[in-house]
Amino acid sequence: MAKLFCFWKNLCFCCAQLLDICSARPKDLALEPRCVYRSPDPDPDEADEPTPEPRPVNPRVWELSKANGRFALALYKQMALSRTPDTNIFMSPLSISTAFAMTKLGACNQTLEQIMKVFQFDTIKEKTSDMIHFFFAKLNCRLYRKKDKTTLLVSANRLFGDKSLSFNETYQNISETVYGATLLPLNFKTNPEAARITINDWISNKTENRIQDTLPSGALDSNTVLVLVNTIYFKGLWKNKFPKDNLMASDFFVDESRSCEVNMMYQETKFNYRDLREEKVQLLEMPYRGDDITMVIVLPNKGHPLRQVGRAGMNNKLKSWLDQMRDTSVSVSVPRFRVEDSFSLKDKLQQMGLTDLFSADTASLPGILEDGSDSLFISEAYHKAFLEVNEEGSEAAASTAVVAVGRSLILDREYFLADRPFLVIIRESTLNTLLFVGRVADPCQQ
Ligand SMILES: *[C@@H]1O[C@H](CO)[C@@H](O)[C@H](O)[C@H]1NC(C)=O
Ligand SMILES: *[C@@H]1O[C@H](CO)[C@@H](O)[C@H](O)[C@H]1NC(C)=O
Ligand SMILES: *[C@@H]1O[C@H](CO)[C@@H](O)[C@H](O)[C@H]1NC(C)=O
Ligand SMILES: *[C@@H]1O[C@H](CO)[C@@H](O)[C@H](O)[C@H]1NC(C)=O
Repeated sequence: MAKLFCFWKNLCFCCAQLLDICSARPKDLALEPRCVYRSPDPDPDEADEPTPEPRPVNPRVWELSKANGRFALALYKQMALSRTPDTNIFMSPLSISTAFAMTKLGACNQTLEQIMKVFQFDTIKEKTSDMIHFFFAKLNCRLYRKKDKTTLLVSANRLFGDKSLSFNETYQNISETVYGATLLPLNFKTNPEAARITINDWISNKTENRIQDTLPSGALDSNTVLVLVNTIYFKGLWKNKFPKDNLMASDFFVDESRSCEVNMMYQETKFNYRDLREEKVQLLEMPYRGDDITMVIVLPNKGHPLRQVGRAGMNNKLKSWLDQMRDTSVSVSVPRFRVEDSFSLKDKLQQMGLTDLFSADTASLPGILEDGSDSLFISEAYHKAFLEVNEEGSEAAASTAVVAVGRSLILDREYFLADRPFLVIIRESTLNTLLFVGRVADPCQQ
């Protein structure tokens, strides 16, 4: 039995050019994956409907973005269950969904069905699954187009296959057109170590050298046949930077019994903000330059543990919470922090129902190899992500233009003091695509 080895990694920054596909129409694309999943009956009455669609977005692209968001929160919940409350979490669920959508191209039977369900692709109101790749391409076009030269959001995909095997040409073609993932043949059989270094170097290059040695030594062996890599890198400058002079050493309360010292940044500006008193959370959204990508912080009230916020509301309420934010003058204190996370996805996804893909006995991926053999399975899936936040929102004075209201003139300002664990989300705000999701429980951890 051949072993399919698959992993991805992320970071914060940006971007692939999919220019051709961005102007393509469905009929221009020969999307014929090996197997197609047919939804039994697209559910007409979803709980979180109706939401006005931003125009001019294809409604299916909008639904895909929502599906990815639902998966993101479900995975976050799964992660939170597996970690103690004082541990940071950071990941890019979008990158994970993308990598598995690439896998879906070759999947059949139960394996295909489980991918459709776990990643919530089956909530898209389209009878068949083949169009998802087209919508993914359109979503990517929207996310990765540049609005501001200082904001980088870059995603890169690649397949590394063993050179002794023939991969199905249709699979390669679709994967290249839609995901920009070209296949690079490597010699896993006789020199897995050299192949590992080649892959690590590629990842490092695509992430501005911020992520190195992703595959530990011994991670690949002579049974490896295919490695799927997806990277996402984001780097943004704040639209309203935090003045350096305002930096102050301050306590961060990890829990009732423990605090640590952080560098607290401070500014007073108009931000999208809401104090949801009944929900016991404050929400703050800080835009990066270009305005389309933002960071949302969900801060529970003092004495209201973050894990209760996750449990109570995240899945169902987050979207409505975000919609309730309004432009507000607010005094913001947020620590400088850096979170780094890496974990195996395999057990988390298995717990969520993606079981067949990881099993030598039940995996069905006949679309990937030229001979259509059903002998592949995914042995591992790794995820890595990284985020660094500091006051350097911007290098120029342009960003200060919005700070129109002087300190002393704000009479009814709100206070947002992030001195206890909070959730952090980096999103594309017009589509509400969740690019990164995490929790900063202990900013002193590293
Ligand atoms: C490659 O996959 C396509 C479906 O995606 C299938 O129609 C074709 O027969 C496969 N090619 C070979 C040589 O098996
Ligand atoms: C899986 O799908 C293939 C078509 O690619 C089909 O021939 C086979 O019978 C299916 N196996 C099961 C167990 O359904
Ligand atoms: C794949 O793409 C190449 C180049 O675009 C084309 O020549 C070839 O016919 C395609 N193969 C399949 C199976 O679609
Ligand atoms: C990545 O590789 C390209 C092509 O070799 C090179 O031009 C670029 O500088 C590299 N980027 C980094 C961050 O090393």
